[in-house]
Amino acid sequence: MTVSFESPVDLRSDTLTRPTPGMRKAMAEADVGDDVYGEDPTVNALERRIAELFDHEAGLFCPSGSLTNMVGVAASVGRGQELLAESRAHILRSEVGGHGAIAGVTSRTWISPDGTLSADDAIALAEQPRGYNQVGTALIAVENTHNFSGGRIADIDELRRLRELTDARGIRMHMDGARVANAVVASGTSFADQGSAVDTMSVCLSKGLGAPVGSVLTGPSALIEEARYLRKRYGGGMRQAGILAAAGHYALDHHIERLRDDHANAELIARDVAAAVPSFVDLDTVETNIVLLRTGRAGVSAESYAHLASDRGVRILAMNEGECRLVTHLDISEEQARATGRVLAEIAEQTASAVV
Ligand SMILES: Cc1ncc(COP(=O)(O)O)c(C=O)c1O
Repeated sequence: MTVSFESPVDLRSDTLTRPTPGMRKAMAEADVGDDVYGEDPTVNALERRIAELFDHEAGLFCPSGSLTNMVGVAASVGRGQELLAESRAHILRSEVGGHGAIAGVTSRTWISPDGTLSADDAIALAEQPRGYNQVGTALIAVENTHNFSGGRIADIDELRRLRELTDARGIRMHMDGARVANAVVASGTSFADQGSAVDTMSVCLSKGLGAPVGSVLTGPSALIEEARYLRKRYGGGMRQAGILAAAGHYALDHHIERLRDDHANAELIARDVAAAVPSFVDLDTVETNIVLLRTGRAGVSAESYAHLASDRGVRILAMNEGECRLVTHLDISEEQARATGRVLAEIAEQTASAVV
């Protein structure tokens, strides 16, 4: 029987979630003030709450993850100094070159083909001899979970080792933790474990946590003060932002533990597709809410696969060369995930056999 959906199942990203009725109510009732004057109680409480969660001194509420990364990086890296990150890091690939264009940050990358973190690979770049012509490495950025490699989790022991190595060299560490809550829930680590592995942390409330807007940067008070100044310079100072911060509080109260459901749904879909065409999915890399479908391995273009899926009511992204990405989230039920798995498996079978 052909599966069909009443409305499309949209798995292009976990940013697509809409605020739930409970979240909207919390937003409507939020106590607010002018946050540029530091007078919004709901924002102030959220900044303190998230800083405490990561065991950091202070927090800064921003409208987007790109902005928390921007001000977090720029607070540590002077103009012309260097940021090191993995070659497919969101900071370098998907923030429209902002770190270079606006903050004057230069960068080099190490390569992790499977997206896992190797402290040795990261530090090897910083170790390269430095003469009069070379810039100084000021910061290493890690991404947890790693988006473009399919939501891979950074191993906590590697993170801690990298922190020791960077500390010894006077290099700071930043985590693009857009999906760090997924990493925490899936790895059994704590938010404090993640926070203590880095100097600054950017956490998004508008990905798996389901808020419509908002990210928080945490770190030492002096760095956060510098970031607050930069946030205003970049146009990110907000006024009665407590309406948005209230959604963040609600997300922390209600949407962390349920990330396990998203992870289970991602696994359901991945297993179905792998059962149909094993080469499409590396099951052992499906650790959180993101699944990469490696259509190119069977000679199927990512674009045509995504197109066929869309025709059947499932929206996914043709993302990397020969790879589609799907992301499970708050607005996807187990039933929809099961039906999606069947649809994507059928298309995998049809397209792969047509190529052969
Ligand atoms: C890993 C990662 N970092 C940062 C961001 C940026 O977040 P925003 O879209 O809120 O700017 C994203 C967005 O998808 C992301 O996936």
